Amino acid sequence: MKAFKFLFLFFCCFYLISLCEVEASHKVYSEFQSLEAAQVKQVHRTGFHFQPPKHWINDPNGPMYFNGVYHLFYQYNPKGAVWGNIVWAHSVSKDMINWEALDPAIYPSKPFDINGCWSGSATVLPGNKPIILYTGIDPHNYQVQNYALPKNISDPYLREWVKPDNNPIVFPDAGVNATAFRDPTTAWWGKDGHWRIIIGGRRRNRGMAHLYRSRDFVNWVKAKHPLHSQAKTGMWECPDFFPVSKSSNNGLDTSAHGVDTKHVLKVSLDVTRFEYYTLGTYYPRIDRYVPDNTSADGWDGLRYDYGNFYASKTFYDPAKGRRILWGWANESDSTHDDTQKGWSGVQAIPRKIWLDPNGKQLLQWPVEEIEALRGNKVQVTNTKLKKGDSLEIKGITAAQADVEVTFSFPNLDKAEKFDPSWVKAQDLCAQKGSKVQGGVGPFGLLTLASEKLEEFTPVFFRIFKATDKHVVLLCSDASRFVFFFTKPP
Ligand code: FRU
Repeated sequence: MKAFKFLFLFFCCFYLISLCEVEASHKVYSEFQSLEAAQVKQVHRTGFHFQPPKHWINDPNGPMYFNGVYHLFYQYNPKGAVWGNIVWAHSVSKDMINWEALDPAIYPSKPFDINGCWSGSATVLPGNKPIILYTGIDPHNYQVQNYALPKNISDPYLREWVKPDNNPIVFPDAGVNATAFRDPTTAWWGKDGHWRIIIGGRRRNRGMAHLYRSRDFVNWVKAKHPLHSQAKTGMWECPDFFPVSKSSNNGLDTSAHGVDTKHVLKVSLDVTRFEYYTLGTYYPRIDRYVPDNTSADGWDGLRYDYGNFYASKTFYDPAKGRRILWGWANESDSTHDDTQKGWSGVQAIPRKIWLDPNGKQLLQWPVEEIEALRGNKVQVTNTKLKKGDSLEIKGITAAQADVEVTFSFPNLDKAEKFDPSWVKAQDLCAQKGSKVQGGVGPFGLLTLASEKLEEFTPVFFRIFKATDKHVVLLCSDASRFVFFFTKPP
């Protein structure tokens, strides 16, 4: 008897069908930018996911744990449900699930950020001193890097932040494209006594991670070469660079480095609005990152998520010794609908992230705290399903359910042969879809199903037989309205 266990978090607010094509950066809708939401329609608002009480949200910024409190800052439009008027909104939580919204922490007020306070990161310096680095948009619309400090370090929520007058601390020099120079990372410390950060950029169509070093966190000097760059990838937004342990699923502090570590470089591609990451080796002495040759370094690279997930950022949580991934799930409603409903976008469930023991990819799982939200338990056991059967799970709402399911098969004799040339799961999902009958599969769940099944999102599996093991393919298909999981005519 073979058993496959899966845990899912499904939520109807992810409209995975991307109706709105976003190309370079965010689309600007000046007519809606400052249109205060008349009302906030509750329809499809989230119960599990992070979202502000109203209006537009994008990138997670400066996530950190400080003195028992998780902080999440995020790009936010306080005046409307489309991108614009961007500030760093601020929320705090004891468990990353229940959040308290505070006043914005950083907002345009000085020449060095008068046209916008864009994305950035937090670093907790030795002596337990948090510091934020963020991109400010100056009066020439140049992108400069600023720092901000808590006004009162003994305020447990760090409500107020000051932006010292010696900002900006990093500005685009002659060799840098001043309108493609943003999103500083959490800093890491080297044994040579220098802090390092990377800043996303582009030289013509070559995406790059500009590297800067500093002894005091205020005076930054650009390194002669980027930490890494890649041709034909366009602007690298929101880079993230961090170590992972080769031997355990515990997280590592961003400055950790040694024989037991590998490094991850993730970039968000402005051109495709997808992210990709590589695993590789960081050589501190020459300050270069060299990706392994086990996956593509470019558009075809590994992704954390094949849905609507962008501008992600990780942080090290010292309380539980784990690295946590946050990412923005953009809206796929029309701008008109966003304005009508009064809000747009959510943050995906925070996930613990670590290195697969095979060393070739990362693994992730929703933070354990999410289980505290489980309420009414509905259980169905020992149910036999034949080919073509479907079973309705009663007593839950399709809009929100946290599902744990085990599918068992008497045997897997009929599993199709796995072709080793299939390296990209997303291609295989597209090729096989949810309709093509396989040896074992497709089987799975119809999530978000309407009563008469006119609409639903299949999340389904196929099992293949490779030479020495079985391979499970997991797909979802948000583009489908009619699905042949039920008996074919
Ligand atoms: C990514 C991004 C960042 C920028 C921010 C502006 O979504 O474009 O590069 O700092 O959003 O809101």
